[in-house]
Amino acid sequence: MKLADRMGRLGTESAFEVLARARALEHTGARVIHLEIGEPDFATPPHVVAAADDALAAGHTHYVPAPGILELRTAVAAFLERTGRLRTSPDRVVVTPGAKPIMFFTILALCQEGDEVLYPDPGFPMYESIAAFAGATPVPVPLREEHGFRMDPAELASLVTERTRLVILNSPHNPCGSVLTRQDVEAIAQVAIEHDLVVLSDEVYWAIRYGGEHASVLSVDGMAERTVLLDGWSKSYAMTGWRLGFGVFPQALVEPVTRLVINSVSCTSAFSQYAAIAALEGPSEPVERMVAEFRRRREVIVAGLNQVPGFTCQQPGGAFYVFPRVREVGLPAEELAERLLVRGGVACLPGTAFGAHGEGYLRFSYANSVEHIREALAAVEAVVRDEVHA
Ligand SMILES: Cc1ncc(COP(=O)(O)O)c(C=O)c1O
Repeated sequence: MKLADRMGRLGTESAFEVLARARALEHTGARVIHLEIGEPDFATPPHVVAAADDALAAGHTHYVPAPGILELRTAVAAFLERTGRLRTSPDRVVVTPGAKPIMFFTILALCQEGDEVLYPDPGFPMYESIAAFAGATPVPVPLREEHGFRMDPAELASLVTERTRLVILNSPHNPCGSVLTRQDVEAIAQVAIEHDLVVLSDEVYWAIRYGGEHASVLSVDGMAERTVLLDGWSKSYAMTGWRLGFGVFPQALVEPVTRLVINSVSCTSAFSQYAAIAALEGPSEPVERMVAEFRRRREVIVAGLNQVPGFTCQQPGGAFYVFPRVREVGLPAEELAERLLVRGGVACLPGTAFGAHGEGYLRFSYANSVEHIREALAAVEAVVRDEVHA
């Protein structure tokens, strides 16, 4: 069957492919430790599940307004103000099934042929894929290890042309675990203002930080009217399967994005939205416990990876990923990841799954128990010593 040309420009997320391969290996009886997965290995907090049960029992099983129920949009605005991130109003909030549609709809609404979209490389692979799908030209902004994998505002500025329309930021960052500083976001905001650019700020890992305040371009004067905030419940509340995300938009984008919601999904699941309110307004201890446990695992995995010959691993400031340099091992990242899976039973992702600048790196997720992380570290070290340095 002949597909539309645009399908040739749509990429994919190879984390799902590696997961499928790892599962296939498990079906043959092999044991695999999953460090490729980008989701918290914690249960959704019980008060959130109870709120969904109550909403179902109360009959919240029908269509609801496309941009989300007013109670949830109000709760999101209040949450953002309470946590010191942003003062906004409920009518700027659009709720979607997961945060990914916020990316999709923002880019579809803003970008077309002739436009350039600046995005982090390494970075979440959907940025490049969706920008290309929309007909725009994705332009990678390299994140360099020597700059702590943070976007360098000067390098960003050097890549702006008169065609640049959108800049995508992600902090805390997938896959590098880096976090932008206040100085970074101020300098990036200046670039955006000077060149009249829109910014998409992906803050889906906002809650998962290991010290220090969260710096967002949104807090810089003049940025709220040119910035889309992307966030959601998947990572912060261990709710990936609920499919719940939100965007906060400049006024001019609310109606077009709502129209995209109407044309695609109609609305987000009604009872899930009541659970989302409970997550924002209920006790924060489950999130704090989860982040404390991630912090413990981060110590273990960073120390362990730095023991592996040819590996060098920075300490990430947020999210639940480490991105060690493995160039000195002497194999392309994809081949090394494959050997670790097949010979060591450890599933991880090559840095190249996140863009060409990811060559020479691997991404390990530490959304797994300390026990499994230790076991995986021993297996990685054994594979590298035996197979690679033999
Ligand atoms: C950087 C980044 N943004 C957005 C998302 C999408 O999250 P959601 O599950 O809410 O669609 C992910 C998920 O892996 C991510 O890593």
